[in-house]
Formats: sequence, C-alpha cells, structure tokens
Amino acid sequence: MSTTPSSHNGRLYIETVGCQMNMLDSELVVAALRRQGYTLTGEIADADTILFNTCSVREHAEHKIYSALGRLRHNRARRPSQVIGVIGCMAQKDQQLIFQRAPHVDLVVGTGQLAQIPELVEQSRVDRQQRLAVSLDRRDATRQQVSDSFVSYDPLRDPEMRPSPFQAFVRIMIGCDKFCTYCVVPLTRGPEQSRPPQDILHEARRLADEGVREITLLGQTVNSYRSVSDGRTWRLSDLLLALHEIPGLQRLKFVTNFPRDMSDDLLQAVRDLPKVARYLHVPAQSGCDTVLKRMKRGYTVGEYREMMHRINATVPGCAVSSDFIVGFCGESEESFQKSIELVREFRFKNSFIFKYSPRPGTKADDLLPDDIPEDVKRRRNNELLAVQNEISEEDNARLIGSEFEILVEGLSKSARKQLTDEPAAALPLADSHDEHPQLVGRTRCDRIVVFDGNPRMVGNLVDVHVYDCTPTTLLGTIVTREVLHTSTDGLPILA
Ligand code: SAH
Ligand code: SF4
Ligand code: F3S
Repeated sequence: MSTTPSSHNGRLYIETVGCQMNMLDSELVVAALRRQGYTLTGEIADADTILFNTCSVREHAEHKIYSALGRLRHNRARRPSQVIGVIGCMAQKDQQLIFQRAPHVDLVVGTGQLAQIPELVEQSRVDRQQRLAVSLDRRDATRQQVSDSFVSYDPLRDPEMRPSPFQAFVRIMIGCDKFCTYCVVPLTRGPEQSRPPQDILHEARRLADEGVREITLLGQTVNSYRSVSDGRTWRLSDLLLALHEIPGLQRLKFVTNFPRDMSDDLLQAVRDLPKVARYLHVPAQSGCDTVLKRMKRGYTVGEYREMMHRINATVPGCAVSSDFIVGFCGESEESFQKSIELVREFRFKNSFIFKYSPRPGTKADDLLPDDIPEDVKRRRNNELLAVQNEISEEDNARLIGSEFEILVEGLSKSARKQLTDEPAAALPLADSHDEHPQLVGRTRCDRIVVFDGNPRMVGNLVDVHVYDCTPTTLLGTIVTREVLHTSTDGLPILA
C-alpha cells in the first residue's frame, strides 16, 4: 500500500451499518483515506468516492445497502469519475453477486482486505475496472490458508481523526469459530484469530498518551481471547490486568461475551480491577433448551443460569445485558414463553431483540425451515421487548436517589439535535442555556445518564445524583460539593 500522501483532495462519503467492529473499520478506513488527502462529506451528492461498510447479519441490513446502491445507478451516469465501493461483511459474503445486482459498483472489498482500499480506489479511478478483493471461503481451503487471507486491520490511528478524543475501540480478535447455526459472522469475518497482546498494549498506550480515557475491547466472542506470547498464554483477564496499569485510562469495557467462555479468572478481574466496567454483555439468544440446541449455542438454560450465579456471586451488582432471537426455526409459543421467563428471572439491564432472519450459507438456512410467520415474529419481538423495558424501568427506578460516578461522553442526543437545528450563525454556544447543555455519560455499570453540565466536563469522571429515569436512561444532576473551609495546605475540604 502506498503510504505517501497524494495531492488528491477528493470528497469521501461513507455509510456504515452493523456492529462496533464495523464502526471501528470505518473509522480506520476513513483515517487512511484522509491521509491520502480526502475530505469527508455528509452529502452523497458531493462525493467522488462513496463507500458502504456493510453488514450481513440480517437480511434487512443487506436490503438497505442494495436499495442505496440502486439509488446511485442514475447518479453515476452524471459522474463518470465517481468510485463506488461496497466493503465489509456483505462484500465478503456476496462477492460477484454485488456486481451483478449493481453493475455500477467499482469495488467489492471484504473484511480482510480493508488495508488495500486507498490503493484500490485510486486504481479504479484511473482504469475504471471493477475490482474484487475478498478472503478465501472457509470451505475451500485449509484453516491456516483461510486465516491468512483474513488480515486484521489495525493501523495506528491519527489522534485528530478519531470520532471521540476520549473513547476508542480496540480490536483484540477477529473472526468466530462458534458457528451458531443461524449466524453468518464466521463466514464474513473468518476463523477466530487473537491479536498478540503486545500489539494491543502498544495501541492502548498510544491511545492513552493521546488522551483516550475509555477503551472498549472488541471481539465477536471477546472472552474466548487466547494468545501465546513469550511462552505464556494470555487470556482476556491477563490483558485487562496489563491494560489496567496504563496511566490515563479510566474505563475498560469489552464486548461480546460468549456464555460458555465466561471463566472465573475473568470475573475476578472484573471484580478486582476498578477501571473495568461492572458490565457484561452475554447474549442468551433463547430461554428454551430445544431452541438453544437447534441454534448450536453449546449451553443449556441451566448452564446459563449457573453462569449468572457465578457472575452475581463474584461481582455483586454487575449489570448484564443480552441478545435474543425470536421466531427461530421451530420456536413454539411455549419455547418463546421460556425466553420471557428467562428475561424475568435474570432482569437484564437491557436486551437487543431480533426477529430470526435466514442467512444463506448457514446451517439453519440449509437444514431448518423458516417456519414462524413474520407477524408472529413481530408480535414475539414486541412482547419480549415490553417485558424487558418494564424490567429495565423498574430497576432504573430503584437507582433514583443514588449517586454515581459518570464518565462524561459528550452532548446528549437532544443537545446535539438542538445544535444542528440551529442556524449556523447562532453557533458557537452563545446564550446562558447553551453554557450548560445536556450531557450524556455512563455509570461504571454502563447505565446511560443525562444531566446538564459544562461541555468542559466531557472526558472526565463526575458525580451525578439520579432523580428520575426512563427504561433506557437515568436523569441526573451534577453533585456540587459544598466547600466548608480550606485546609492548611490550601486544599478545599468538601462536605
Ligand atoms: N458475536 C456476538 C454477536 C453477533 S451478531 C455473539 O455471539 O453474541 C449480534 C446478534 O445478532 C446476535 O447476538 C444475535 O442475537 C443476532 N443475530 C445473529 N444472526 C441472526 C440472524 N440470522 N437472524 C436474527 N438475528 C441474528
Ligand atoms: Fe455468530 Fe455465534 Fe459467533 Fe456470535 S458466537 S458471532 S452469534 S456464530
Ligand atoms: Fe454485521 Fe459483520 Fe458485525 S455481519 S454484525 S457487521 S461482524
């Protein structure tokens, strides 16, 4: 890849769907192209390079991209030098099919070839040839060959190109070997591969030096992390211990956990390391053993329960969140009720609920009929969500009156909206109301809190008193401690 900045000053538009892994990939691709002289634009009509970073986990996510591509077909005739690229999971999954369905696409670049994008875009603009860069299919080669073809994309980042100066994602592994029968990720992200701990620590130290306070470690099954380095095996708990030593970092999180790999050493690390969030995302997917078996999740409800007991016994007060799929092949009403019971029993902080979407290339799609009608899936989705919301609100209500240490992330959604709704001439913040806009942050248990505060607080830990809540959000006020008197060394003594 050419690393010398070119004089190109094109405009790049990028649309990203999917999980945090995709958000990180987009951030890194954008940084690489900006280094080549590109500027980002939010207007697709202004762009001479258009990238879609795609997700294949459900059909809906793919539809969105194909419709967006369809809308560009005519535009393209008017802009002959425009380069359109489809990158990420759908690129790896659909490959040539993308050129067939959208012949005006120039580039199809899989998750393992993201480093090549700047070069591919330039070549494409020059010779107008379509280019396909993807990894090997898992069925077509040995594990080693396939693994080698999925290259983890982890260049060091330019500080000024990060979306938030205080928060960063750090990838610790790529791929997945669990092969849950409904899931396309092992095909789109390839075999499970852990990054060497030294690389991760180096990246984290750099980020902390540049002012990052919170790092979220990413992996499809992040707690399966294993890497042999200097003759010893590193687990996620070892990595957390080492990351915890890095000065400047204040919070460490990691997603997503696989229930069967929730080991005691990891729970002890969460308990013992104050910077580590007391929060675990451990998707259950279903509350019914028959369904779990058909999903090939590798655990029973009893084993999930045992894991929850270990979490609660080792890390009291730890928040746990989950994912559920409703309407999976053969899910009876009785099976579905068991998912409701599971949510009631474990009182998750929140749950992401999805209607089953058959994915070509997966075991479930090959072998099991998608036999639950769409309206039943929708009803079950709404029902499970209603139960979860009721629980989230009840549990949030119990926190009213308490104080929490919040890591301030930035302006809240409504404050940001207010800013963008205002005419540009009214900016920057002018009147007294704007000096204390609504900010958003999270507790150590990952609960979202909004409160009025000074934007200078962003990136800092502050104490907030909670006075109200919704199912998803706590509402708070900053705790201002009254200064009683000053000690002999000049430091204030607080009430
Ligand atoms: N690696 C993570 C999550 C992967 S995808 C894990 O194992 O938990 C995120 C979520 O999408 C999954 O947890 C699952 O709930 C959902 N999902 C995956 N495949 C799906 C499908 N075919 N239809 C509907 N939901 C799906
Ligand atoms: Fe998909 Fe299962 Fe792997 Fe998660 S663990 S990415 S759901 S195959
Ligand atoms: Fe989607 Fe790929 Fe993430 S399929 S969920 S973007 S790993």
